[in-house]
Amino acid sequence: MVKKNACVFISGNGTNLKNLIKHSNNYNFPINIKLVVSSKPNAYGLLYAKKQSIPILIFSKKDFLSEIKIINELKRKKIEIIFLAGYMKVLSKRFINLFNNKIINIHPSLLPKFKGLNTFQKIRDNKEIKTGCTVHFVNEKLDSGKIILKKFFFTDNSFDLEVLKMRTQKLEHRAFPEAIIKVFEKTNF
Ligand code: GRF
Repeated sequence: MVKKNACVFISGNGTNLKNLIKHSNNYNFPINIKLVVSSKPNAYGLLYAKKQSIPILIFSKKDFLSEIKIINELKRKKIEIIFLAGYMKVLSKRFINLFNNKIINIHPSLLPKFKGLNTFQKIRDNKEIKTGCTVHFVNEKLDSGKIILKKFFFTDNSFDLEVLKMRTQKLEHRAFPEAIIKVFEKTNF
């Protein structure tokens, strides 16, 4: 199988990155992770990239020059698809247009519900009985691009924020790889 060159953007723990690296080491999985970009120099998730000797770039300042630097590196490494896995910065419109339909994000709610930050708090405050995660393409509007897939579980108010997060992330680790397979099966990438 000819794998696509991928880049993963992170900001924190990187459990999704770890999971995607694990899958991409499988020769049947459609991507190879050639670069990890982090908005934080000390993001815990960078350890997973280091362990596998995946090159790292830090994109901490959202200025024109840093963005050019990232774009140049993405081009140099012939990156064909970008995954946002807990990336906490908003990408510029220019960047999103440049990689139109080539950026995929995972969000810890059943979109279009609970876009943006503090998702678990919002889910609890709203007394949701069903929640989950969504994998979607990124467009110029926050958490609003075309949905690739969602996965859900039932919840109630006995779930505190930690439990909600744990249950959601467990589901994310199934949803992200499944969504990637779906994208490459269904579209002419
Ligand atoms: C995930 O819950 C994802 O949905 C959200 O940020 C979190 C990242 O977790 N966008 P991790 O860094 O992959 O552990």
